[in-house]
Amino acid sequence: MAEMASILSARPSRALSGDVSVPGDKSVSHRAVMLGAAAIGETRISGLLEAADVIRTVQAMAALGAHIERHADGTWVVQGVGVGGWKEPSETIDFGNSGTGVRLAAGLVATAPVKVIFTGDESLSRRPMERITGPLSLFGAQIDTAPGGTLPMRVIGTDDPVPVEYTLPVPSAQVKSAVLLAGLNAPGETIVIEPEPCRDHTERMLKAFGADIAEEITDKGRVIRLAGQKELTPADIEVPGDPSSAAFPLAAAILCPDSRVRVRNVLLNPTRTGLIETLHEMGAEIRILEPRQSGGEVIGHLQAETSSLRGVTVPASRAPSMIDEYPVLAVLAAFAHGTTRMEGLAELRVKESDRLAVTAKALAACGAEVKTGADWMEVTGTGGKPLKGGAVIDAHHDHRIAMSFLVLGLAAEEPVTVRGADMIATSFPGFVSLMRGLGADIAPVAETDA
Ligand code: S3P
Repeated sequence: MAEMASILSARPSRALSGDVSVPGDKSVSHRAVMLGAAAIGETRISGLLEAADVIRTVQAMAALGAHIERHADGTWVVQGVGVGGWKEPSETIDFGNSGTGVRLAAGLVATAPVKVIFTGDESLSRRPMERITGPLSLFGAQIDTAPGGTLPMRVIGTDDPVPVEYTLPVPSAQVKSAVLLAGLNAPGETIVIEPEPCRDHTERMLKAFGADIAEEITDKGRVIRLAGQKELTPADIEVPGDPSSAAFPLAAAILCPDSRVRVRNVLLNPTRTGLIETLHEMGAEIRILEPRQSGGEVIGHLQAETSSLRGVTVPASRAPSMIDEYPVLAVLAAFAHGTTRMEGLAELRVKESDRLAVTAKALAACGAEVKTGADWMEVTGTGGKPLKGGAVIDAHHDHRIAMSFLVLGLAAEEPVTVRGADMIATSFPGFVSLMRGLGADIAPVAETDA
């Protein structure tokens, strides 16, 4: 993996143009490796996101007994151990920055007779794990965390699991997936009830791996039923481009004068397209081209052009479908005509950073008018004029904060510098060269100049 400079600066840029592909979707990549590891036989994955978070999942699945290798053509080949067939790892499994990795892996091991200790970096070690330890204990697993419900976390999986019926208290695909993955090795039917829909890649991919899983919409929400203790059959997975990564070059094209950027083959699963819907409402010139079905998902090209934006209210009901896009939406809103109000943001407080607080503080440092509450944010835009910029922003161990504020710097009066920009490597290796290829002036800065 290429090194990412830890301090980057973005300078005012114009006429961004190009036709690019972003790396594979992070959510789909984690799941492809994990389900491949839980299947019997050979799973082949193309387009896997080769970024730090997913590599942690590859290493974790290898530590649990799967055989995983990357072929010269970029295909990853996983030989799985079978449902519940995990080997007890000899060492602690370090998930780095990845909440998805650690929470889903905890689900996988909770219903197998292995003891696993999970750790993570500074950011992950602050994030709440009770949201999974609660439901995973219901299967019979014994789980201990540090005081406060954080990592390190020890999971002693059960060799006598019982199936679980669980209603999600927060719209979290990580919690839903942890429960479903634990249910793979529980006898009988594990049921997850999802009052508000959130990303459904686990359900879709479980079907591709032959799991016995069905969904119905009831008055309680979406009810997902999984029949456990059935082996998974391997699959060929093509990972489409990550819409959460595509958001950055597209946002830059919207903000920088005389720009037009196309991002090819992006995942357009309806549980992930809240940002596109919001941008349409804001009046952005963003188009979906050649939408098509591939591997059980909708994919298509996204094209954005320089646009005049107007402020809108983004309802809480849309939050799960754009949960990772609020920092970049807030940046876009800072250039709009009028005020953008974003509601239902409580989950932003427990992401790689407290994204509500960090985004608001960084926007204010760049000269934007921002107000926040416990679970909302309001950004009043400049009405199409450049923001002042000129700030040094700390990424707070959060890749999406780093990329969002570099995008802001491209459209500001003065350069914006981001410290801790090396975190971008967790999800978007090649971000700097892709953006530079479009004409964006983003470059490393020496410590002495920051
Ligand atoms: C993810 C789910 C989301 C998202 C994260 C990836 C996943 O988290 O923020 O980046 O792959 O399941 P929550 O499910 O906790 O909201």
